[in-house]
Amino acid sequence: MFKFKVNGSVYETEENKKLIDFLRDDLDITSVKNGCGEGACGACTILLDGKKFRACVLTTEKADGKEVITVEGLSEKEKQVYDYAFSTVGAVQCGFCIPGMVISAKSLLDTNLNPTEEDIKKAIQGNICRCTGYVKIIQAIFLAAKCFRGEEEPVCKTPKGFVGERAIRPDAKSKIDGTGKFADDMKAPGMVYGSALRAKYPRALVKAIDIQEALKHPDCVKIVLAEDVPGERVIGHLTLDWPALIAVGEETRYYGDAVALVAAKTKEAVEEIKSLIKVEYEERKPVFDPEEAMELTDYRVHETGNIYRVEKVQRGNADKVIAESAYAVTNTYYTPAQEHGFLEPESALAVPEDDELVVYTGGQSIYDEHREIGMLLGIAPEKLRIKSAYVGGGFGGKEDMSVQHHAALLAYLAKVPVKVTFTREESLRYHPKRHPMKVTMTTACDKDGNLTAMKCRVIADTGAYASLGGPVLQRACTHAAGPYNYQDIDIVGTAVYTNNIPSGAFRGFGVVQTMFATECNLNQLAELVGIDPYEMRYRNALRPGDVLPNGQIADDSTGIVETLEAVKDEYYKNFDRAGIACGIKNAGVGVGVPDTGRVRLVVKDGKVSLRTSAACMGQGIAGTMRAICCEATGLEASLIDVVMPDTAITPDSGTSTASRQTVITGETTRRVSLKLKAVLENHTLEELEGEEFYEEFVGVTDPMGTDKPNPVSHLAYGYATQVVVLDDDGKVEKVFAAHDVGKAVNPNNVEGQIEGGIVMGLGFALTESLKLSEGEPHTNYGKLGLWRATDIPEIHTTIVEKNNAELAFGAKGVGEIPLIPTSPAVQNAYYKRDGIFRTSLPLENTAYSK
Ligand code: FES
Ligand code: FES
Repeated sequence: MFKFKVNGSVYETEENKKLIDFLRDDLDITSVKNGCGEGACGACTILLDGKKFRACVLTTEKADGKEVITVEGLSEKEKQVYDYAFSTVGAVQCGFCIPGMVISAKSLLDTNLNPTEEDIKKAIQGNICRCTGYVKIIQAIFLAAKCFRGEEEPVCKTPKGFVGERAIRPDAKSKIDGTGKFADDMKAPGMVYGSALRAKYPRALVKAIDIQEALKHPDCVKIVLAEDVPGERVIGHLTLDWPALIAVGEETRYYGDAVALVAAKTKEAVEEIKSLIKVEYEERKPVFDPEEAMELTDYRVHETGNIYRVEKVQRGNADKVIAESAYAVTNTYYTPAQEHGFLEPESALAVPEDDELVVYTGGQSIYDEHREIGMLLGIAPEKLRIKSAYVGGGFGGKEDMSVQHHAALLAYLAKVPVKVTFTREESLRYHPKRHPMKVTMTTACDKDGNLTAMKCRVIADTGAYASLGGPVLQRACTHAAGPYNYQDIDIVGTAVYTNNIPSGAFRGFGVVQTMFATECNLNQLAELVGIDPYEMRYRNALRPGDVLPNGQIADDSTGIVETLEAVKDEYYKNFDRAGIACGIKNAGVGVGVPDTGRVRLVVKDGKVSLRTSAACMGQGIAGTMRAICCEATGLEASLIDVVMPDTAITPDSGTSTASRQTVITGETTRRVSLKLKAVLENHTLEELEGEEFYEEFVGVTDPMGTDKPNPVSHLAYGYATQVVVLDDDGKVEKVFAAHDVGKAVNPNNVEGQIEGGIVMGLGFALTESLKLSEGEPHTNYGKLGLWRATDIPEIHTTIVEKNNAELAFGAKGVGEIPLIPTSPAVQNAYYKRDGIFRTSLPLENTAYSK
């Protein structure tokens, strides 16, 4: 018998189990998050007899006779201070790391109310935050210390409600105090646990599956095989090529292929039952090299062939212009797979309720989930409801089906609630990663450094399934020429199927890969011309009225020159140890693809219920839409409630991807809010009780390959310049980042996106690489190379606002661009340091190399 106190109450258990499971499963203490289960992330941080520990590496036995404190057990004063400090400075994004951060902060501040920045960084060194870049978390802990010293009153300011306000996010408090629910925090009466048995080989014929022994397990609730799927077995985000279960007689395509689903009464039983399932395989020769896959004639990963997609962006006569140019450089660059590293592993809970199935998820689009799960189950749309829980980070990695469809299928067939939650190991092994790319690029300029032409060939490894491979390749190609004023371009990209883990959407969406090449080539050209990298960019940067390489005319909001000017002084001040790079990123899907936002306002109980399906993975959708609604209507923020995405009540506003929600759903919110405002001229909200206002906004753009001379490829582009400064040891000391965001709806959020993106970009440049062996990542969360608080440099952010357009009050979206200039700026800084022109990521032979 083990007996210990938790938050002041005494508990006893005879079970010796992980403390995290006891706290979460037995006591429903949801502030203790399971981010990795292996002691690497700090999301489960608790105090044990006043000392900081990770609950996932403790057991109930180890807690015997001791006292556990979690965020729920803080005093009222402490709760008030941490709520105030973290929410006021904007330290909360997805929120999954925050309760663990608060405990680490408490552990520091309990003994030191005058911490230095180093003290704070050390205190949270064990807590990974993948969203914020730690800058605002450190500020929050300083502010908390100030409050505890009695120098500031911890009273949260009620947001007034306008665009440009540093308003506290509506979701901040519940993410800080741990009461906000992520999917794995949810339970349902009679709930059982589900999981998939995965393929043993990346390519093998499944000859037979024997489940007889497995069915005899006393805790087995259901085993589902391919033949049991009631609807379409093969689904997919855009291309229908991904079997939810591999059938007997079919080949596997990667290690992550599911061959059977198991539902059981306990988590332990699920694993026991999976081990009793016998699968007979005939192993076959896989292909892991995309260039080899392109040439293969005797093996097709998919019937359609190994070349999944070819994209071309061609204007003018690049070959001729390059040949006639004063200077030209050609290099081949390699960028690796990268793990999203979101802190919340994938989780979904499916609950049969009356005659419908309700699925609680943490994905990036409830309507994509509705469509794909509906196809799989073959049920009428009205019999399926998807409700979003909080999403603990996504970065593109939660666009595909991972656990949602399996939870739904098991629950639908077993007729009981089923929760499927990936372990961190499963998350690393099965969800799509950033596309590895090989980019061969020639860039040319005249004798004065004016760019003339470029030619580029891209090979993208899209792995076993398409996922978002088509659009990622498209963006890689459409942005490869960079934010510069020249028009002769010849870009051809090829996405190839292999037996590697699939590649999919990841923040930066192909542009991170090709613009690494663009920016590095630019510096070599500058050297040939005899000008410095800043001057090279300044001469070529797009000005309003110029024509982008894709033919689109740069509009008045184009602010790349202003971003360059904003970092100019720091660049020259640190010239000998600084690297510089620019970035461009579209906001909105663009290229003629229908891009629709939908928002409904319902007047209810004297307030406005703002309803849209736009998913928040941490970027702050609810606060952004609330601010836009307030700005348009003049109503106070306290009168606007933004509801969680739910297919039963929130209209379809598309996926949270392509930095599109601020622009597309933002513009829709602005328009519907103006409708409400017009009615409010003659009525009070009380008089409008029950009234609904609805708006749909479609962003109209021109398709790829259009013969228009100046097509509108995207509704808006964001621009950026970053300067990376190394210290004497070759470590990144400072980053200066200037971002043209159009209009910052909430500067706290915008800075948080930039800071988090830069730290993610530094990881991609220097420490992160998901090495695959036989198509499979062999790593764990602690070895991903994610940056910790003690690793970060000084980050100085400048927000450039020059957009007076009506569209979304001028906001352009900033979700993806922050990490686009980072890796080439780091490459350039190292080139300055040691003269080595590196062409692959992560950069080799740096102060970070192991
Ligand atoms: S869940 Fe315990 S350290 Fe990650
Ligand atoms: S806010 Fe820290 S992981 Fe998302």
